[in-house]
Amino acid sequence: KNIAIFASGAGSNAQKIIDHFKHSDMARVTLILCNKPGAGVLQIAEKEGIQAILIEKEPFFHTDHYVKLLQQEQIDLIVLAGFLWKVPANLVQAFANRIINIHPALLPKYGGKGMYGHFVHEAVISAGEKESGITIHYVNEKYDDGATILQERCVVLPEDTAASLAQKIQLLEHTWYPLIVERLLS
Ligand code: GRF
Repeated sequence: KNIAIFASGAGSNAQKIIDHFKHSDMARVTLILCNKPGAGVLQIAEKEGIQAILIEKEPFFHTDHYVKLLQQEQIDLIVLAGFLWKVPANLVQAFANRIINIHPALLPKYGGKGMYGHFVHEAVISAGEKESGITIHYVNEKYDDGATILQERCVVLPEDTAASLAQKIQLLEHTWYPLIVERLLS
């Protein structure tokens, strides 16, 4: 099975997923799509010898260029890992129930456009939440809105900062995302 990862940032989740399938013959990451020149995930692709494509806004939102490319590459599952653009309807429809995302909070709270990275953790802390966590979900035409696949929780302590909470959340992401990808493909 072929996995395509969409990412905009450091790519730590991408790295964990790549590593997870290194010793498996059931699936592998064959494509990385990125919308940010210079993003860390592009260095990971280079190091791992995985084809990386820098996506352009215009064709991404107004043509079938990438839908056709992903179909030609026989992609079975699209994994968003820190991808900050909304997925256009044509791609959601072409890959119905085959696009997943991970969000660093317990949706439906603390989701939506602009809620990513430390903004999420700051909002959780300033709201006085006693717990946070991750949400892995199917992607539909709206931000952070598709059916939930898995949620995992962690405590939020009074002394937690956005940085310390991010660390706990990242550990959950790195632990669970590869396992969910494997489960969905098997
Ligand atoms: C993670 O917080 C993830 O939950 C969110 O974007 C971030 C990606 O981090 N979707 P990385 O680029 O995988 O390190």
